[in-house]
Amino acid sequence: MGKVAIIGSGLVGATSAFTLAASSSITEIVLIDINKNKALGDALDISHGIPLMKPVDVYAGDYSDAKGADIIIITAGASQKPGESRLDLVKKNTEIFKGMLPKLLSANDEAVYLIVTNPVDILTYITYKISDLPWGRVLGSGTVLDSSRFRYLLSKHCNIDPRNIHGYIIGEHGDSELAAWSLTNIAGISFQEYCSSICNKNCKPHFKEDVVQDVRNAAYKIIEKKGATYYAVAMAVKRIVEAITRDERSILTVSSPLNGLYGIWDVALSFPSIVGKNGVENILELPLSQEEKKSFQNSAEIMANVIKELRI
Ligand code: 2OP
Repeated sequence: MGKVAIIGSGLVGATSAFTLAASSSITEIVLIDINKNKALGDALDISHGIPLMKPVDVYAGDYSDAKGADIIIITAGASQKPGESRLDLVKKNTEIFKGMLPKLLSANDEAVYLIVTNPVDILTYITYKISDLPWGRVLGSGTVLDSSRFRYLLSKHCNIDPRNIHGYIIGEHGDSELAAWSLTNIAGISFQEYCSSICNKNCKPHFKEDVVQDVRNAAYKIIEKKGATYYAVAMAVKRIVEAITRDERSILTVSSPLNGLYGIWDVALSFPSIVGKNGVENILELPLSQEEKKSFQNSAEIMANVIKELRI
């Protein structure tokens, strides 16, 4: 397993191509963009560094070159401008997807489709519906990035390696996302217990609310400063691609069409799921607190209303 097609060679797509090329988990990357020169330029720029890394073939192509790819990563579409929400992009990017998907599917309907374009949960669900691919083969980067931001902030607070913090942001990759504090643990004990008994940190009042707000506002803050985000989301893409290409069966909060979790159907949302060679192998039915369940269902309702408006 080693070929990836990246649709969209903008900041996220090109940075994802670079990150994947440098990760040596992929042997072939084709960059596809309506601006062929941009894709060509990015492919050349990355290729000139290959002698300094492990061999990987990076080139520019068109939709037909997606044939034979194990994973098709879609980053194409408009991105948020300062002050814009991810949901503000829904109409424009849905139209782009409606035009693009049939061309991609005729070139390759066997790949795992990894959606990154925002609003990622809506576009993941739309791709699943339009493609009619088997459940699990269409997933979105979802809140893998938000969970990483969450774990980063908690690691700074507790002064430990973020890889030792199991923490999940679930729901929409957007304003209605929430932290599953009841599932967040360090060294096998709850975050609260760890804070009070191990790092003896008297967390400020509202610490937990503040952390979640920082995660929710992270993209807005970065976009205000530099116009876009692309490094951390590219690392999230790499993490998901690795779990698929190596059949790792990793637990990641990718977005996928829910099949009855907490009574929710017909929307895609992020929840801890096992990711392997077929994409999403299954969504873990983990116990949430009553409050978390309510917020998760609220996030689902927001997605459902957007999808209803689109009349897909
Ligand atoms: C992010 O969260 C904009 O969805 C992108 O960085």
